[in-house]
Amino acid sequence: MFKSIKTLPIDPIFGLMDLFKKDARTNKINLTAGVYVDDKGKIPIFEAVKQAENIILSQQTSKNYLPICGDEIFREFALKSINTTDIKALYQDAIQTPGGTGALSVLAGLISKNFPSASMWLSDPTWQNHHNIFSADNINIKTYYYFDPSTNSINIGKLENDLRHSKPGDFILLHTSCHNPTGTDFNDIEQNEVLALVNKYNLIPAFDNAYQGFDAGFSEDIKFIHKFLANGVKLFVASSYSKNFGLYNERIGALSFFTDNQNELRSVVSNFSSIARSKYSNPPAHGSTIIKTIYSDRKLFKLWSNELSFMNTRINGMRITFADELTKKVKRDFSFIKNQKGLFSLLPISRDGITKLRDIHGIYLLDSGRINVAGLSMSNLSQIVNSIQHILQEENL
Ligand code: LMR
Repeated sequence: MFKSIKTLPIDPIFGLMDLFKKDARTNKINLTAGVYVDDKGKIPIFEAVKQAENIILSQQTSKNYLPICGDEIFREFALKSINTTDIKALYQDAIQTPGGTGALSVLAGLISKNFPSASMWLSDPTWQNHHNIFSADNINIKTYYYFDPSTNSINIGKLENDLRHSKPGDFILLHTSCHNPTGTDFNDIEQNEVLALVNKYNLIPAFDNAYQGFDAGFSEDIKFIHKFLANGVKLFVASSYSKNFGLYNERIGALSFFTDNQNELRSVVSNFSSIARSKYSNPPAHGSTIIKTIYSDRKLFKLWSNELSFMNTRINGMRITFADELTKKVKRDFSFIKNQKGLFSLLPISRDGITKLRDIHGIYLLDSGRINVAGLSMSNLSQIVNSIQHILQEENL
């Protein structure tokens, strides 16, 4: 009866994390999932989160359901952290979701229900789970050229060539900042070009906002979205608070919609609600309660924001050291790593080389060559640099 069910391959990120856990070597290094790791190799809980949890534990009196759309104060935070300048004539609302994946999944439900012939345009490459999420709702996926590995930069000309094949009303997914997996974002001019293309081809933009705060800062990192809002473009934003609050396993995110039409807002949000109800009923409360506690307390908010900047400083410092050490050791220019943003960098290593790094050297990175830069520290850097040098040297023989 179940013979038709095929065994599927392991998840390219979580599957590797499982393999890493099972690896008995003591010198193994995990550069797989995008999580912040401190210089001692720990994935820390923010002090602001711990303090908020103490407050919550002492005050909580019930575990009653949240509304389908989630906590009101948390939703206000989600919207305010995007529409920071209170752009006028804009109607906005957000639904609290189980993580950024939950937000994207509600968006996928909305597209498949209301725009069945629309395609979703994803960057090539992108976070692998984008493909899973939109194809799970039977949405036709197309990809636009993004990153040229031979120059380690974006190629807008090729991107436009692809978008020429789009049709009005198609959706396009853009990464707000800290592109996953390349770490390479549109510069200011390219952002304007993308805005012009979205308008020219009548596309509906959706932003994946999973790394807000890991480039220039929490308020600064939404510049790309602001350009669209300031131009009156209706858009969706799928936010994740896994990384910027370190709440990975609390599954906390939000899907926001911005429009100039109040009726449109009402109908879209009612659809969010109905899709959420059928997919997961209502969201888990712990993550949003933590965030609303931090948001409502000036001292905790300041503490959280300082902690986030500290993490950013550490990651950027490691980027620079890693790029310099690799350039010195391999005798090739790796300075492009310094210009990349956020948690990730895509390394020019063959699939075979990546397998050898894992099997021989105990260094786990994704099969795409993506590393989590936050996984680098002064204590593992030389093992990583030496191993990469070894692999690249072999490849060039
Ligand atoms: C990642 O890309 O490593 C993270 O977003 C974790 C995940 O869910 O894949």
